[in-house]
Amino acid sequence: MDVAGIINGGLRRVPAWPLYIVVAGWACWMFWLGLTGGLGAEPINALEREYGAMGLKGLVLGLMVTPLRKYTGVNLLKFRRAIGVSTFFLILAHFTVFVVLDVQSLERVWTEIVKRPYVTVGMAAFLMLIPLAVTSNNLSLRRMGGAAWRQLHKLTYPAAILGAVHYLWLVKGFQWEPIIYLGIILVLLAARIRWQRRLAMA
Ligand code: HEM
Repeated sequence: MDVAGIINGGLRRVPAWPLYIVVAGWACWMFWLGLTGGLGAEPINALEREYGAMGLKGLVLGLMVTPLRKYTGVNLLKFRRAIGVSTFFLILAHFTVFVVLDVQSLERVWTEIVKRPYVTVGMAAFLMLIPLAVTSNNLSLRRMGGAAWRQLHKLTYPAAILGAVHYLWLVKGFQWEPIIYLGIILVLLAARIRWQRRLAMA
């Protein structure tokens, strides 16, 4: 058996649900660290950043599931929903820390969204993720039909691009990390467009 086959054999025995517990546990652990001084001198900002950074990683991981299967044969499909839904909750936590702990006033939240372009872009990405999270269940998949569901879930690409642009926009000075995230997302999107073209021509 090849390496992908061995990995897939192992993964078949691992259920997807523990991922929710691991992600929720990590988020609670970060919150606890923030409360107890483990996140440095500015715990609210640090917590906000931890959740945002992990949310962006989750978006990228979710986008990698299909190419990983196509190029290496490693099949993470059964984890995709858990990855997507957990990522949504991380970004919801990121937004909640911003609103409840950081800004602390709905009026000022609105001002921040309107005034700071990086917040506007982050908000747009978050809003795109809401219909995806709401329809990430078997009932919605059945009601919508596979084609419409897949069409809607293509929103993950613009959401991920906006998430990376949000990051790029908020960092001060030149930093590689947001550029690398944006680069990976654009390469994944370009690969998807190529497959679709190839499929359309076949
Ligand atoms: C898909 C949606 C989003 C993603 C992927 C995302 C991702 C990120 C990332 C990666 C960071 C920087 C983390 C670091 O420095 O390590 C960040 C920071 C931040 N994000 Fe988001 N974010 C999203 C949505 C939002 C929304 C909806 C808001 C508020 C309305 C928001 C407000 C902020 C703020 C205030 C910071 C910290 C800025 C600072 O420290 O100066 N983000 N976000």
